[in-house]
Amino acid sequence: TLCSVKQALSGAIQAGTKVTVRGWVRTRRDSKAGVSFVNVNDGSCFDSIQAVVPATLPNFESEVKHLTAGASVIVTGTLAPSPGKGQAFEIQAEHVQVAGFVDDPETYPIQPKQHSLEFLREVAHLRPRTNLFGAVTRVRHTMMTAIHRHLTDQGFFWVNTPIITTSDAEGAGDMFRVSTLDLANLPRTPDGKVDFRKDFFGREAFLTVSGQLNVEAYCLAMSKVYTFGPTFRAEKSNTPRHLAEFWMVEPEIAFADLAADADCAEAFLKAIFTAVLTERAGDMAFFADRVLPEAISRLESFIAHPFERLDYGEAIAILQKSGQKFEFPVAWGADLQTEHERYLAEKHVGRPVVVMNYPEAIKAFYMRLNDDEKTVAAMDVLAPGIGEIIGGSQREERLDYLDRRMAKFGLDPSRYGWYRDLRRYGTVPHAGFGLGFERLLVYVCGLSNIRDAIPFPRVAGSADF
Ligand code: 4AD
Ligand code: MG
Repeated sequence: TLCSVKQALSGAIQAGTKVTVRGWVRTRRDSKAGVSFVNVNDGSCFDSIQAVVPATLPNFESEVKHLTAGASVIVTGTLAPSPGKGQAFEIQAEHVQVAGFVDDPETYPIQPKQHSLEFLREVAHLRPRTNLFGAVTRVRHTMMTAIHRHLTDQGFFWVNTPIITTSDAEGAGDMFRVSTLDLANLPRTPDGKVDFRKDFFGREAFLTVSGQLNVEAYCLAMSKVYTFGPTFRAEKSNTPRHLAEFWMVEPEIAFADLAADADCAEAFLKAIFTAVLTERAGDMAFFADRVLPEAISRLESFIAHPFERLDYGEAIAILQKSGQKFEFPVAWGADLQTEHERYLAEKHVGRPVVVMNYPEAIKAFYMRLNDDEKTVAAMDVLAPGIGEIIGGSQREERLDYLDRRMAKFGLDPSRYGWYRDLRRYGTVPHAGFGLGFERLLVYVCGLSNIRDAIPFPRVAGSADF
Protein backbone atom coordinates (compact mmCIF):
# COMPACT_ATOMS: atom_id res chain seq x y z
CA THR A 1 0.00 0.00 0.00
CA LEU A 2 1.11 3.49 -0.86
CA CYS A 3 0.64 5.60 2.27
CA SER A 4 1.66 8.84 3.91
CA VAL A 5 4.04 8.86 6.84
CA LYS A 6 1.10 9.91 8.97
CA GLN A 7 -0.89 6.85 7.93
CA ALA A 8 2.09 4.56 8.45
CA LEU A 9 2.64 5.86 11.99
CA SER A 10 -1.03 6.09 12.94
CA GLY A 11 -1.56 2.47 13.84
CA ALA A 12 -4.33 2.17 11.27
CA ILE A 13 -2.16 -0.05 9.07
CA GLN A 14 -1.36 -3.48 10.48
CA ALA A 15 2.21 -4.44 11.23
CA GLY A 16 3.41 -6.86 8.56
CA THR A 17 1.74 -4.93 5.75
CA LYS A 18 3.91 -4.02 2.81
CA VAL A 19 3.91 -0.23 2.46
CA THR A 20 5.46 2.41 0.25
CA VAL A 21 6.21 5.89 1.60
CA ARG A 22 7.62 8.81 -0.34
CA GLY A 23 9.34 11.83 1.10
CA TRP A 24 12.54 13.65 1.95
CA VAL A 25 15.40 12.38 4.05
CA ARG A 26 15.81 14.18 7.37
CA THR A 27 18.76 12.16 8.66
CA ARG A 28 20.72 9.03 7.84
CA ARG A 29 22.75 7.03 10.31
CA ASP A 30 24.77 3.88 9.66
CA SER A 31 24.95 1.19 12.31
CA LYS A 32 27.92 -0.99 13.03
CA ALA A 33 25.84 -3.99 12.02
CA GLY A 34 25.86 -2.65 8.48
CA VAL A 35 22.28 -1.38 8.22
CA SER A 36 21.44 2.22 7.49
CA PHE A 37 18.66 4.11 9.29
CA VAL A 38 17.01 6.64 7.02
CA ASN A 39 14.45 9.01 8.52
CA VAL A 40 11.86 10.11 5.99
CA ASN A 41 9.44 13.02 6.37
CA ASP A 42 6.67 13.87 3.93
CA GLY A 43 5.03 16.78 5.78
CA SER A 44 1.86 14.80 6.54
CA CYS A 45 2.61 14.89 10.26
CA PHE A 46 5.26 16.14 12.63
CA ASP A 47 7.13 12.84 12.91
CA SER A 48 9.37 11.16 10.38
CA ILE A 49 9.35 7.42 9.82
CA GLN A 50 12.52 5.41 10.14
CA ALA A 51 13.39 3.11 7.29
CA VAL A 52 15.79 0.35 8.29
CA VAL A 53 17.79 -0.37 5.16
CA PRO A 54 19.81 -3.62 5.06
CA ALA A 55 23.21 -3.74 3.34
CA THR A 56 21.88 -6.50 1.12
CA LEU A 57 19.91 -4.09 -1.07
CA PRO A 58 21.56 -3.89 -4.51
CA ASN A 59 21.92 -0.09 -4.43
CA PHE A 60 23.03 0.04 -0.79
CA GLU A 61 26.64 1.04 -1.40
CA SER A 62 26.06 2.94 -4.61
CA GLU A 63 23.06 5.02 -3.53
CA VAL A 64 21.65 4.51 -0.02
CA LYS A 65 24.96 5.31 1.60
CA HIS A 66 25.08 8.57 -0.32
CA LEU A 67 21.71 9.79 0.92
CA THR A 68 21.92 13.08 2.78
CA ALA A 69 19.39 15.46 4.34
CA GLY A 70 17.00 16.78 1.72
CA ALA A 71 17.27 13.91 -0.75
CA SER A 72 13.98 12.48 -1.98
CA VAL A 73 13.24 8.77 -1.72
CA ILE A 74 10.56 6.17 -2.35
CA VAL A 75 10.82 3.40 0.23
CA THR A 76 8.99 0.10 0.06
CA GLY A 77 9.11 -2.42 2.86
CA THR A 78 7.31 -4.12 5.71
CA LEU A 79 5.71 -2.03 8.43
CA ALA A 80 6.99 -3.26 11.78
CA PRO A 81 6.65 -2.22 15.42
CA SER A 82 9.73 -0.18 16.24
CA PRO A 83 12.01 -1.14 19.10
CA GLY A 84 13.28 2.45 19.20
CA LYS A 85 11.62 4.87 21.60
CA GLY A 86 9.50 7.75 20.37
CA GLN A 87 8.18 5.91 17.36
CA ALA A 88 5.57 3.18 17.18
CA PHE A 89 6.47 1.84 13.76
CA GLU A 90 9.34 1.62 11.33
CA ILE A 91 9.78 0.23 7.85
CA GLN A 92 12.00 -2.77 7.17
CA ALA A 93 13.04 -1.56 3.75
CA GLU A 94 13.10 -3.97 0.83
CA HIS A 95 13.48 -1.40 -1.89
CA VAL A 96 14.81 2.16 -1.81
CA GLN A 97 14.49 4.27 -4.90
CA VAL A 98 16.29 7.59 -4.88
CA ALA A 99 14.18 10.17 -6.66
CA GLY A 100 16.66 13.02 -6.29
CA PHE A 101 19.99 13.46 -4.55
CA VAL A 102 21.11 16.74 -3.02
CA ASP A 103 23.61 18.30 -5.40
CA ASP A 104 26.03 19.59 -2.86
CA PRO A 105 25.31 18.22 0.63
CA GLU A 106 27.87 20.47 2.31
CA THR A 107 26.14 23.66 1.18
CA TYR A 108 22.54 22.40 1.45
CA PRO A 109 21.01 25.11 3.67
CA ILE A 110 18.78 22.89 5.82
CA GLN A 111 21.24 20.83 7.83
CA PRO A 112 19.94 18.61 10.63
CA LYS A 113 20.51 21.18 13.37
CA GLN A 114 18.65 24.16 14.75
CA HIS A 115 18.79 27.15 12.40
CA SER A 116 17.98 30.71 13.39
CA LEU A 117 14.65 32.09 12.18
CA GLU A 118 16.49 34.99 10.54
CA PHE A 119 18.55 32.58 8.50
CA LEU A 120 15.50 30.54 7.53
CA ARG A 121 13.76 33.67 6.21
CA GLU A 122 16.58 33.92 3.69
CA VAL A 123 15.80 30.43 2.44
CA ALA A 124 12.01 30.71 2.52
CA HIS A 125 11.73 28.18 -0.31
CA LEU A 126 13.45 25.52 1.79
CA ARG A 127 12.24 26.35 5.28
CA PRO A 128 9.07 24.20 4.96
CA ARG A 129 11.49 21.27 5.31
CA THR A 130 12.16 22.12 8.94
CA ASN A 131 10.18 20.85 11.92
CA LEU A 132 9.06 24.36 12.82
CA PHE A 133 7.75 25.40 9.44
CA GLY A 134 6.14 22.04 8.81
CA ALA A 135 4.21 22.51 12.07
CA VAL A 136 3.30 26.14 11.29
CA THR A 137 2.06 25.12 7.85
CA ARG A 138 -0.19 22.40 9.23
CA VAL A 139 -1.59 24.64 11.98
CA ARG A 140 -2.21 27.35 9.39
CA HIS A 141 -4.21 24.92 7.30
CA THR A 142 -6.19 23.70 10.29
CA MET A 143 -7.04 27.26 11.31
CA MET A 144 -8.13 28.13 7.77
CA THR A 145 -10.40 25.13 7.49
CA ALA A 146 -11.72 25.62 11.05
CA ILE A 147 -12.71 29.17 10.11
CA HIS A 148 -14.63 28.03 7.06
CA ARG A 149 -16.24 25.20 9.02
CA HIS A 150 -17.26 27.30 12.00
CA LEU A 151 -18.75 30.09 9.90
CA THR A 152 -20.52 27.60 7.65
CA ASP A 153 -22.01 25.91 10.73
CA GLN A 154 -23.23 29.33 11.90
CA GLY A 155 -25.01 29.93 8.59
CA PHE A 156 -22.50 32.27 6.92
CA PHE A 157 -21.77 32.34 3.19
CA TRP A 158 -18.25 32.87 1.88
CA VAL A 159 -18.21 35.79 -0.54
CA ASN A 160 -15.15 36.40 -2.70
CA THR A 161 -14.50 40.11 -2.75
CA PRO A 162 -12.16 41.73 -5.27
CA ILE A 163 -8.48 42.39 -4.83
CA ILE A 164 -8.34 45.28 -7.27
CA THR A 165 -10.49 48.16 -6.09
CA THR A 166 -11.04 51.88 -6.40
CA SER A 167 -12.18 52.48 -2.82
CA ASP A 168 -10.00 52.83 0.23
CA ALA A 169 -11.98 50.63 2.61
CA GLU A 170 -10.21 51.94 5.71
CA GLY A 171 -9.83 55.50 4.55
CA ALA A 172 -6.28 55.40 5.86
CA GLY A 173 -4.54 55.94 2.54
CA ASP A 174 -2.01 53.11 2.78
CA MET A 175 -2.89 51.42 -0.50
CA PHE A 176 -0.71 50.02 -3.26
CA ARG A 177 -1.43 51.32 -6.74
CA VAL A 178 -2.20 48.88 -9.51
CA SER A 179 -0.67 50.04 -12.73
CA THR A 180 -1.05 49.07 -16.36
CA LEU A 181 1.03 52.02 -17.44
CA ASP A 182 3.21 51.71 -20.49
CA LEU A 183 6.39 53.40 -19.32
CA ALA A 184 7.21 54.48 -22.86
CA ASN A 185 3.87 56.18 -23.32
CA LEU A 186 2.71 57.69 -20.05
CA PRO A 187 -0.55 59.63 -19.75
CA ARG A 188 0.06 63.31 -18.94
CA THR A 189 -1.91 65.97 -17.16
CA PRO A 190 -2.44 69.23 -19.10
CA ASP A 191 0.65 70.70 -17.44
CA GLY A 192 2.80 67.80 -18.61
CA LYS A 193 3.13 65.74 -15.41
CA VAL A 194 2.64 61.98 -15.45
CA ASP A 195 -1.00 61.29 -14.60
CA PHE A 196 -0.91 58.40 -12.17
CA ARG A 197 -4.64 58.74 -11.69
CA LYS A 198 -5.06 57.03 -15.04
CA ASP A 199 -2.76 54.15 -14.25
CA PHE A 200 -5.28 51.30 -14.36
CA PHE A 201 -6.53 51.11 -17.96
CA GLY A 202 -7.15 54.84 -17.86
CA ARG A 203 -8.57 54.85 -14.32
CA GLU A 204 -7.10 54.75 -10.85
CA ALA A 205 -7.06 51.50 -8.89
CA PHE A 206 -5.45 49.94 -5.85
CA LEU A 207 -4.93 46.62 -4.10
CA THR A 208 -7.60 46.14 -1.47
CA VAL A 209 -6.85 46.88 2.19
CA SER A 210 -10.03 45.08 3.27
CA GLY A 211 -12.98 43.37 1.62
CA GLN A 212 -15.38 44.85 4.13
CA LEU A 213 -17.20 47.41 1.97
CA ASN A 214 -17.89 44.85 -0.73
CA VAL A 215 -18.92 42.19 1.74
CA GLU A 216 -21.39 44.65 3.32
CA ALA A 217 -23.24 44.69 -0.01
CA TYR A 218 -23.68 40.93 0.21
CA CYS A 219 -24.53 41.10 3.91
CA LEU A 220 -27.49 43.34 3.07
CA ALA A 221 -28.97 40.53 0.99
CA MET A 222 -27.57 37.29 2.39
CA SER A 223 -27.66 38.27 6.11
CA LYS A 224 -24.52 36.42 7.25
CA VAL A 225 -21.46 36.49 5.02
CA TYR A 226 -17.68 36.60 5.22
CA THR A 227 -14.78 37.35 2.98
CA PHE A 228 -11.45 35.60 3.44
CA GLY A 229 -8.50 36.39 1.26
CA PRO A 230 -5.28 38.32 0.85
CA THR A 231 -5.25 42.02 1.72
CA PHE A 232 -2.53 44.59 1.19
CA ARG A 233 -1.26 47.51 3.20
CA ALA A 234 1.48 49.82 2.08
CA GLU A 235 2.56 50.42 5.63
CA LYS A 236 6.12 51.32 6.07
CA SER A 237 6.04 50.05 9.65
CA ASN A 238 8.82 47.52 9.80
CA THR A 239 7.60 45.59 12.83
CA PRO A 240 7.20 41.96 13.85
CA ARG A 241 3.39 42.44 13.62
CA HIS A 242 2.98 43.99 10.16
CA LEU A 243 3.03 42.52 6.69
CA ALA A 244 2.44 44.30 3.39
CA GLU A 245 0.38 41.28 2.26
CA PHE A 246 -1.65 39.34 4.79
CA TRP A 247 -4.81 37.26 4.92
CA MET A 248 -7.87 38.58 6.60
CA VAL A 249 -11.20 36.96 7.40
CA GLU A 250 -14.08 39.41 7.74
CA PRO A 251 -17.51 38.19 8.87
CA GLU A 252 -20.44 40.60 8.47
CA ILE A 253 -23.86 40.14 10.10
CA ALA A 254 -27.13 41.89 9.30
CA PHE A 255 -29.47 42.99 12.09
CA ALA A 256 -26.57 42.90 14.55
CA ASP A 257 -25.22 45.44 17.00
CA LEU A 258 -21.79 45.76 18.59
CA ALA A 259 -22.56 43.39 21.48
CA ALA A 260 -23.63 40.67 19.03
CA ASP A 261 -20.49 41.35 17.01
CA ALA A 262 -18.27 40.87 20.07
CA ASP A 263 -20.09 37.63 20.97
CA CYS A 264 -19.57 36.38 17.42
CA ALA A 265 -15.84 37.21 17.56
CA GLU A 266 -15.43 35.41 20.87
CA ALA A 267 -17.17 32.24 19.71
CA PHE A 268 -15.17 32.38 16.48
CA LEU A 269 -11.78 32.58 18.24
CA LYS A 270 -12.72 29.81 20.63
CA ALA A 271 -13.76 27.55 17.75
CA ILE A 272 -10.37 28.11 16.08
CA PHE A 273 -8.45 27.39 19.31
CA THR A 274 -10.49 24.25 19.90
CA ALA A 275 -9.80 22.96 16.39
CA VAL A 276 -6.08 23.54 16.73
CA LEU A 277 -5.86 21.78 20.09
CA THR A 278 -7.84 18.76 18.96
CA GLU A 279 -6.61 18.38 15.38
CA ARG A 280 -2.98 19.49 15.76
CA ALA A 281 -1.99 18.02 19.09
CA GLY A 282 1.37 16.77 17.80
CA ASP A 283 2.36 20.13 16.37
CA MET A 284 1.12 22.04 19.42
CA ALA A 285 3.17 19.75 21.66
CA PHE A 286 6.22 20.76 19.64
CA PHE A 287 5.44 24.48 20.05
CA ALA A 288 4.95 24.04 23.80
CA ASP A 289 8.17 22.05 24.05
CA ARG A 290 10.42 24.15 21.84
CA VAL A 291 8.93 27.60 21.32
CA LEU A 292 6.69 28.73 24.17
CA PRO A 293 5.89 26.57 27.22
CA GLU A 294 2.39 28.03 27.69
CA ALA A 295 1.41 27.60 24.02
CA ILE A 296 -1.19 24.95 24.86
CA SER A 297 -2.25 25.93 28.38
CA ARG A 298 -3.11 29.51 27.46
CA LEU A 299 -5.37 28.41 24.62
CA GLU A 300 -7.11 26.01 26.99
CA SER A 301 -7.63 28.83 29.46
CA PHE A 302 -9.00 31.19 26.77
CA ILE A 303 -11.50 28.56 25.69
CA ALA A 304 -12.57 27.91 29.28
CA HIS A 305 -13.26 31.53 30.31
CA PRO A 306 -15.38 34.32 28.90
CA PHE A 307 -13.42 37.18 27.34
CA GLU A 308 -13.51 40.37 29.38
CA ARG A 309 -15.28 43.39 27.86
CA LEU A 310 -14.08 46.90 28.62
CA ASP A 311 -15.26 50.27 27.50
CA TYR A 312 -12.52 52.39 25.91
CA GLY A 313 -13.09 54.96 28.68
CA GLU A 314 -12.57 52.29 31.34
CA ALA A 315 -9.46 51.06 29.54
CA ILE A 316 -7.96 54.55 29.60
CA ALA A 317 -8.74 54.88 33.32
CA ILE A 318 -7.10 51.49 34.02
CA LEU A 319 -3.99 52.47 32.10
CA GLN A 320 -3.78 55.81 33.88
CA LYS A 321 -4.11 54.16 37.28
CA SER A 322 -1.65 51.38 36.41
CA GLY A 323 1.43 53.24 37.61
CA GLN A 324 3.11 51.85 34.50
CA LYS A 325 5.53 54.01 32.54
CA PHE A 326 4.43 53.94 28.89
CA GLU A 327 6.34 55.28 25.94
CA PHE A 328 3.17 56.75 24.40
CA PRO A 329 0.88 59.03 26.42
CA VAL A 330 -2.40 57.72 27.75
CA ALA A 331 -5.29 60.15 27.42
CA TRP A 332 -8.93 59.99 26.41
CA GLY A 333 -8.95 60.54 22.66
CA ALA A 334 -5.60 58.91 21.90
CA ASP A 335 -5.43 55.57 20.13
CA LEU A 336 -4.22 52.59 22.15
CA GLN A 337 -0.68 51.61 21.26
CA THR A 338 0.58 48.03 21.34
CA GLU A 339 2.15 48.59 24.78
CA HIS A 340 -1.23 49.73 26.14
CA GLU A 341 -3.08 46.87 24.48
CA ARG A 342 -0.63 44.37 25.89
CA TYR A 343 -0.89 45.84 29.38
CA LEU A 344 -4.67 45.50 29.30
CA ALA A 345 -4.63 41.94 28.01
CA GLU A 346 -1.64 40.69 29.98
CA LYS A 347 -1.47 42.54 33.27
CA HIS A 348 -5.00 43.66 33.79
CA VAL A 349 -6.96 40.66 32.56
CA GLY A 350 -4.52 37.86 31.69
CA ARG A 351 -6.76 36.74 28.86
CA PRO A 352 -8.14 38.23 25.66
CA VAL A 353 -10.13 41.40 26.24
CA VAL A 354 -12.63 43.21 24.01
CA VAL A 355 -12.30 46.99 24.15
CA MET A 356 -15.39 48.80 22.87
CA ASN A 357 -16.61 52.29 21.97
CA TYR A 358 -13.53 54.18 20.86
CA PRO A 359 -13.39 57.95 20.23
CA GLU A 360 -14.90 58.65 16.83
CA ALA A 361 -11.96 60.74 15.60
CA ILE A 362 -9.47 57.84 15.66
CA LYS A 363 -11.66 55.22 13.98
CA ALA A 364 -12.73 54.53 10.39
CA PHE A 365 -15.43 56.51 8.59
CA TYR A 366 -17.90 53.61 8.34
CA MET A 367 -18.23 53.05 12.09
CA ARG A 368 -21.55 53.90 13.72
CA LEU A 369 -21.68 57.04 15.82
CA ASN A 370 -22.91 56.36 19.36
CA ASP A 371 -25.59 58.48 21.03
CA ASP A 372 -22.91 60.40 22.97
CA GLU A 373 -21.67 61.64 19.54
CA LYS A 374 -18.13 61.30 20.90
CA THR A 375 -17.56 57.60 20.39
CA VAL A 376 -18.23 55.02 17.71
CA ALA A 377 -19.45 51.44 18.09
CA ALA A 378 -16.00 49.97 17.46
CA MET A 379 -14.34 47.01 19.13
CA ASP A 380 -10.86 45.53 19.16
CA VAL A 381 -10.02 42.13 20.56
CA LEU A 382 -6.68 42.34 22.33
CA ALA A 383 -4.68 39.26 23.19
CA PRO A 384 -1.91 38.89 25.77
CA GLY A 385 1.50 38.86 24.15
CA ILE A 386 0.46 40.51 20.91
CA GLY A 387 -2.22 43.19 21.29
CA GLU A 388 -4.89 43.71 18.62
CA ILE A 389 -5.83 40.61 16.66
CA ILE A 390 -9.38 41.56 15.69
CA GLY A 391 -10.80 44.94 14.75
CA GLY A 392 -14.52 45.38 14.18
CA SER A 393 -17.53 47.63 14.50
CA GLN A 394 -21.19 48.21 14.05
CA ARG A 395 -21.51 50.02 10.71
CA GLU A 396 -23.14 53.39 10.21
CA GLU A 397 -26.43 52.45 8.58
CA ARG A 398 -27.90 55.99 8.55
CA LEU A 399 -27.11 57.80 5.32
CA ASP A 400 -27.00 61.31 6.77
CA TYR A 401 -24.60 60.25 9.50
CA LEU A 402 -22.44 58.36 7.00
CA ASP A 403 -22.22 61.37 4.73
CA ARG A 404 -21.15 63.59 7.60
CA ARG A 405 -18.45 61.15 8.62
CA MET A 406 -17.18 60.77 5.07
CA ALA A 407 -16.98 64.54 4.69
CA LYS A 408 -15.08 64.74 7.95
CA PHE A 409 -12.55 62.20 6.69
CA GLY A 410 -12.22 64.03 3.38
CA LEU A 411 -13.50 61.09 1.34
CA ASP A 412 -14.90 61.72 -2.12
CA PRO A 413 -18.58 60.57 -2.00
CA SER A 414 -18.58 59.94 -5.77
CA ARG A 415 -16.19 57.04 -5.19
CA TYR A 416 -18.51 55.52 -2.59
CA GLY A 417 -21.81 55.92 -4.47
CA TRP A 418 -22.55 52.23 -4.44
CA TYR A 419 -21.71 52.02 -0.72
CA ARG A 420 -24.11 54.88 -0.01
CA ASP A 421 -26.80 53.03 -1.98
CA LEU A 422 -26.75 50.30 0.65
CA ARG A 423 -28.05 52.94 3.09
CA ARG A 424 -30.68 54.13 0.64
CA TYR A 425 -32.23 50.79 -0.27
CA GLY A 426 -33.41 48.81 2.74
CA THR A 427 -30.70 49.74 5.21
CA VAL A 428 -30.43 47.76 8.47
CA PRO A 429 -28.13 47.82 11.47
CA HIS A 430 -25.22 45.52 10.73
CA ALA A 431 -21.83 44.76 12.20
CA GLY A 432 -18.70 42.80 11.47
CA PHE A 433 -15.04 42.37 12.21
CA GLY A 434 -11.72 41.51 10.65
CA LEU A 435 -9.22 39.01 11.95
CA GLY A 436 -5.64 39.33 10.79
CA PHE A 437 -5.02 35.66 10.10
CA GLU A 438 -1.23 35.73 10.49
CA ARG A 439 -1.47 37.65 13.76
CA LEU A 440 -3.59 34.85 15.16
CA LEU A 441 -1.27 32.20 13.78
CA VAL A 442 1.73 33.90 15.40
CA TYR A 443 -0.21 33.85 18.60
CA VAL A 444 -1.35 30.24 18.46
CA CYS A 445 2.14 28.92 17.67
CA GLY A 446 3.88 31.21 20.16
CA LEU A 447 6.03 32.75 17.40
CA SER A 448 7.49 36.20 17.78
CA ASN A 449 7.63 37.44 14.20
CA ILE A 450 4.73 37.56 11.73
CA ARG A 451 7.18 36.84 8.91
CA ASP A 452 7.29 33.27 10.14
CA ALA A 453 3.50 32.87 9.91
CA ILE A 454 3.12 33.25 6.13
CA PRO A 455 4.95 31.09 3.58
CA PHE A 456 6.54 33.93 1.62
CA PRO A 457 6.40 37.18 3.62
CA ARG A 458 6.07 40.52 1.86
CA VAL A 459 7.30 43.49 3.86
CA ALA A 460 8.80 46.87 3.10
CA GLY A 461 12.08 46.22 1.34
CA SER A 462 11.54 42.53 0.67
CA ALA A 463 9.41 40.59 -1.75
CA ASP A 464 11.86 37.83 -2.61
CA PHE A 465 10.83 34.31 -3.64
O1 4AD B 1 -8.29 46.83 12.20
P1 4AD B 1 -8.29 46.64 10.72
O2 4AD B 1 -7.61 47.67 9.89
O3 4AD B 1 -9.81 46.47 10.32
C1 4AD B 1 -10.30 46.33 9.06
O4 4AD B 1 -9.66 46.20 8.05
C2 4AD B 1 -11.80 46.23 9.03
N1 4AD B 1 -12.24 46.43 7.65
C3 4AD B 1 -12.23 44.91 9.58
C4 4AD B 1 -13.72 44.75 9.58
O5 4AD B 1 -14.37 45.33 10.43
N2 4AD B 1 -14.26 43.98 8.66
O6 4AD B 1 -7.62 45.23 10.37
C5 4AD B 1 -8.16 44.05 10.91
C6 4AD B 1 -7.07 43.15 11.45
C7 4AD B 1 -6.28 43.76 12.58
O7 4AD B 1 -6.94 43.57 13.79
C8 4AD B 1 -4.99 43.00 12.52
O8 4AD B 1 -5.11 41.74 13.15
C9 4AD B 1 -4.82 42.72 11.03
O9 4AD B 1 -6.09 42.92 10.44
N3 4AD B 1 -3.85 43.61 10.38
C10 4AD B 1 -2.65 43.22 9.95
N4 4AD B 1 -2.04 42.03 9.99
C11 4AD B 1 -0.81 41.96 9.45
N5 4AD B 1 -0.16 42.98 8.86
C12 4AD B 1 -0.75 44.20 8.79
N6 4AD B 1 -0.12 45.18 8.18
C13 4AD B 1 -2.05 44.35 9.35
N7 4AD B 1 -2.92 45.39 9.45
C14 4AD B 1 -4.00 44.90 10.06
MG1 MG C 1 -7.60 47.97 13.69
